[in-house]
Amino acid sequence: MDALRAIPRNLPVRVVSADSALPEGIVAVSDEMHEIVNVIRAIAPTEITVLLLGESGTGKEVLARLIHDLSQRKQGPFVTVNCGAIPEGLIESELFGHEKGSFTGAHAQRKGFFEAAHRGTIFLDEIGEMPLNLQVKLLRVLETRSFTRVGSTTQISTDARVIAATNRDLELEVRAGRFRADLYYRLRAVMLRIPPLRNRREDIPFLIEAMLKEFVERHKLAEMPRIESDAIHALIDNEWRGNIRELRNVVEQLVVLSAVGQQGSKQPLIRQSDVERVLGDGASAWQEPLRPLPLAPVGQLGQEQSERELIYRALIELRNDLHELKEMIRANGTTTMVEPRALLHSAPGNSNHTQSSERRGFATLEEREHVALKEALEQSHGNRREAASALGISERTLYRKLKEQGLGEMMGDEL
Ligand SMILES: Nc1ncnc2c1ncn2[C@@H]1O[C@H](COP(=O)(O)OP(=O)(O)O)[C@@H](O)[C@H]1O
Ligand SMILES: [Mg+2]
Repeated sequence: MDALRAIPRNLPVRVVSADSALPEGIVAVSDEMHEIVNVIRAIAPTEITVLLLGESGTGKEVLARLIHDLSQRKQGPFVTVNCGAIPEGLIESELFGHEKGSFTGAHAQRKGFFEAAHRGTIFLDEIGEMPLNLQVKLLRVLETRSFTRVGSTTQISTDARVIAATNRDLELEVRAGRFRADLYYRLRAVMLRIPPLRNRREDIPFLIEAMLKEFVERHKLAEMPRIESDAIHALIDNEWRGNIRELRNVVEQLVVLSAVGQQGSKQPLIRQSDVERVLGDGASAWQEPLRPLPLAPVGQLGQEQSERELIYRALIELRNDLHELKEMIRANGTTTMVEPRALLHSAPGNSNHTQSSERRGFATLEEREHVALKEALEQSHGNRREAASALGISERTLYRKLKEQGLGEMMGDEL
């Protein structure tokens, strides 16, 4: 429990009492989360419909599952439907099923999610994305507890408890006419607002602790890393726009980094500088995390380990470079239309590449970079340190980029 011992000066740390034990890995220490869990305990055994509101990554799905697990239906299925991910034309048949031949491509009869959730719970995630015509149908299902498959007139009764979630402001959606008021009122029999992580920072150290444990196991590391107390503070203070999902990705990277950077037989350590690096490295990658390489169990060191280390470091460098490039473009006031591919094929003098970019009518990243470098050097009269700081990159990176761009001769203290 190093993480806990390392904690903080004046952060209110409360030990969750045994009788409120939650399934392993679910953290609810803050008052806000305590209250939510209390409501969940009270309503879980009932049949009432629940609407979960909250930003992406706040734990709506985790809590929906918790409601199911604490209900009489826990032996039954828990079916998640991501309403935003299903093409509009298919939602009805996915939800309610279809008969053979009811539309092109319906080669066989198929049961829908409502039937699959029989005697269990159906979790309608991103309900705010549901098209209006289906909202009508869903409302009818909630009211009559029955539905028909696409291409059939036979009523099938449903015994599925409904939990819905969205990160949209549904009231606003209702006012804008994008969400039916009657469905909204039907769904919000119980409405829970899950606060963003930045409004319940007391949870953060406990989440870190649980995640450290999880990732040490997942990556088969021999030892739990220690974590500097300043590192924990840096994590507590972060904004976490991606909430717990983002925190998980950051902690996973830190765990892997600490194992990679481990010195000899010393216990791995997560330092404040590691946290700053991972956060500064565009932690917004939480939407698309960099999957760390699986690590060999410690003890099996040697060549394999050092190769992994090299690869991982190269990946991190690449990310840093991307970040610097983005900053550079931003700093120069140019916007939009950066082709990621330009990064991969940045061999100078690749004429195809230049032609096609001209045809498209915008400069490639490489071309922009060239211009940005030149301008910065001209403005700083060839002073490398000044130019680098104007571009927001290190001198070393500037040096490398100048060479790559064939601008090496612009370096030096005079032009
Ligand atoms: N209370 C919690 N304790 C521990 N981990 C959580 C908690 N809530 C969410 N998580 C983790 O955070 C991530 C995002 O949670 P999820 O339920 O998918 O969020 P949402 O549905 O709101 O986008 C998941 O990996 C989940 O395991
Ligand atoms: Mg979700």
